[in-house]
Amino acid sequence: MSEPSTPRFIPIADQRPSAIGIPDAAWGQNALMPAVGLLTDARGRELRDLRISVTDRCNFRCSYCMPKEIFGKDYPYLPHASLLTFEEITRIARSFVAHGVQKIRLTGGEPLLRKNIEILIEQLARLKTEDGRPLDLTLTTNGSLLARKAKALKAAGLQRVTVSLDGLDDAVFRSMNDVDFPVADVLEGIQAAHDAGLGPIKVNMVVKRGTNDHEIIPMARHFRGTGVVLRFIEYMDVGATNGWRMNDVVPSAEVISLLQKEFALTPLEASAPGETAQRWGYADRHGGHDNTAGEIGVISSVTQAFCGDCNRARLSTEGRLYLCLFASQGYDLRTLLRNGSDDPLLESAIGHIWQGRADRYSELRGAKAADAGTGVRRVEMSYIGG
Ligand code: GTP
Ligand code: 5AD
Ligand code: SF4
Ligand code: SF4
Repeated sequence: MSEPSTPRFIPIADQRPSAIGIPDAAWGQNALMPAVGLLTDARGRELRDLRISVTDRCNFRCSYCMPKEIFGKDYPYLPHASLLTFEEITRIARSFVAHGVQKIRLTGGEPLLRKNIEILIEQLARLKTEDGRPLDLTLTTNGSLLARKAKALKAAGLQRVTVSLDGLDDAVFRSMNDVDFPVADVLEGIQAAHDAGLGPIKVNMVVKRGTNDHEIIPMARHFRGTGVVLRFIEYMDVGATNGWRMNDVVPSAEVISLLQKEFALTPLEASAPGETAQRWGYADRHGGHDNTAGEIGVISSVTQAFCGDCNRARLSTEGRLYLCLFASQGYDLRTLLRNGSDDPLLESAIGHIWQGRADRYSELRGAKAADAGTGVRRVEMSYIGG
């Protein structure tokens, strides 16, 4: 297969984080060999994981993600006509699956706020990997609507959920979500997900120094032995609004040594290539993994970047393809869909875009902010999804 030439990008005017047109290389008579089947990017990384943001809205205002001062009542959320329809999302997802995607995660904002999300899940659950297996179909949620929706999500074909929860202390949690939402309701949501069979359930806790680091041990105690996999996430400098400072980050190494004061832990192998979390099992008396006690994970994108095998693509609510969580621009797939392009052209465009990918923001961050001095504004996590 011939290599794509250096792509020329067609800028498209936009008020929001800017969009990029599709590289010429993917188009009509300029098309090179269509980029089909399994793909690797410019750093040899496969495309395996697609994260689809279905809404840019959320009913929480976590300060590290959607601070109230920025995301107030006048914030210009996307208008309905800008959103991809479920049919459009499924069409794009099918093209990604044809390129080797095996896992699809629905995100937001808060994905359960998107009306009739079960219908989208039904459509996505019908997709099969190239070797005929069902996709790993999952969803990240703040848990607030889970008690109400867990059964219907499972019935629609969702396999599992990941729930964000930053602490068990009600005052701490209410203050972190900044809408006074109680811990008990999220725990009820987790229980409902468990009862509906949406497992293995993961719980993500973003750790901020001085804010919820004293909740690390209580969270571990609470979830140990329940089958829920608790993951501690280093607070990241995503977006441009959360006022991130390195001093607020609790390095994963510190989290692990804190946990080891109370629990015996043993490192576990990665369960999939390109995994975000480093896994640790609770150890038995002989130092082996005690399966009944379960495991925890740490996600160290600040102190130990994992860009080397990053296999994740992200599709925004309005149909832009982002190649990195820290990107400032996405490729405008919606225009491609709405101008009548057929599936081979869509697939070819996705293929060429992935083949040109060289992003590795977290690795470069160590040296200096990878986009420092470029004047570009990074996309918000609530828009692109976790
Ligand atoms: P599982 O398949 O359930 O293990 O999911 P996952 O770990 O791939 O996904 P999840 O969405 O739960 O990711 C957990 C957190 O890791 C996110 O909320 C982000 O904080 C962080 N994260 C996920 N993907 C990336 C990534 O590509 N780059 C960086 N820097 N951080 C990421
Ligand atoms: N740093 C790390 N993780 C973040 N998330 C959102 N903002 C940040 C940030 N600044 C992640 C959390 C949350 C998910 C929806 O997004 O893991 O659970
Ligand atoms: Fe909403 Fe999740 Fe962002 Fe919190 S982290 S504001 S729950 S999208
Ligand atoms: Fe992937 Fe970008 Fe995250 Fe690195 S910083 S792991 S390239 S999304």
